[in-house]
Amino acid sequence: MAIPVLIDCDPGHDDAIALLLALASPELEVLGVTTVAGNVGLDKTTPNALRVLELAQRTDISVAAGFARPLYRPLQIAANVHGDSGLDGPTLPVPKTAAVDVHAVDFLAEKIATSEEPVTLVPVGPLTNIAVLLNSYPDIGSRIARIVLMGGAIATGNVTPAAEFNIYVDPEAAHRVFHSGLPITMMGLDVTHKALLGADHADQLRGAGAVGKFVAELLDFFLVNHPRHFESRGGVPIHDALAVAHLIWPDLVETVDCHVTVETQSDLCRGRTVVDRWQVTGQTPNASVGVDLDGGVFAKNLLERLGAY
Ligand code: RIB
Ligand code: CA
Repeated sequence: MAIPVLIDCDPGHDDAIALLLALASPELEVLGVTTVAGNVGLDKTTPNALRVLELAQRTDISVAAGFARPLYRPLQIAANVHGDSGLDGPTLPVPKTAAVDVHAVDFLAEKIATSEEPVTLVPVGPLTNIAVLLNSYPDIGSRIARIVLMGGAIATGNVTPAAEFNIYVDPEAAHRVFHSGLPITMMGLDVTHKALLGADHADQLRGAGAVGKFVAELLDFFLVNHPRHFESRGGVPIHDALAVAHLIWPDLVETVDCHVTVETQSDLCRGRTVVDRWQVTGQTPNASVGVDLDGGVFAKNLLERLGAY
């Protein structure tokens, strides 16, 4: 029985690869895609999601646009990392399809409520849409199997020394999600920085049809641009794809149950995921946190799925 999933994203190079992995995997049934402002504005993340679904010839899957800014703070984007388009590198045509005329929050609620099985949410951008879903539909949790998110870090952040980008952009939304009481799995930078693809992988994919060529060109851009901002020995991190991969191959990532909360008051440490890795606070764990990954197995599995389009 395929796992019903809803993917909330801010495409973004790694979001696009995460979507393509999910769509290529019979273990998952993608019920829909929602978009949020993050890597770039919502006016770009939404058409980017449409472009990826069109490329994958999966326009049967609806896209619903969500929030254009965080709950309480001005939007901060990462165009320096993903380019002004959010998907710099390849050229995809203007999408022929459009997002549905329903807000992402209401779209998520409807898909969750009408699914025969409880749904797994896979948020891989700022958590604004998910937080508002939980606030607006207080009973929806009974129909959510779990939340497997890309975000946070036990150790170093990437947008500040303290915070990872998705959590930093909307820390109040992240705090709401981590304290929802729902089963949370956190794929943070500690493991996503082991989820690497390199130039050899790009070359393997380049001849693998339109999808392979698209991913190769995403990687071409990322392999040049990412090292301008972060140490990139061994390749570039495909952060969001690891959240999807964890659902497909549950043994891929080693996780530890920890208490996690989010700093929302401090300017210096805004958006820090405070992960009680060694249970020193005595607080009950509220998340399974990724602590280790065999990056070689991740890359092999991902290439096999992307190469199979
Ligand atoms: O910090 C990495 C995360 O921020 C990824 O989800 C990337 O797409 C950006 O959203
Ligand atoms: Ca993302």
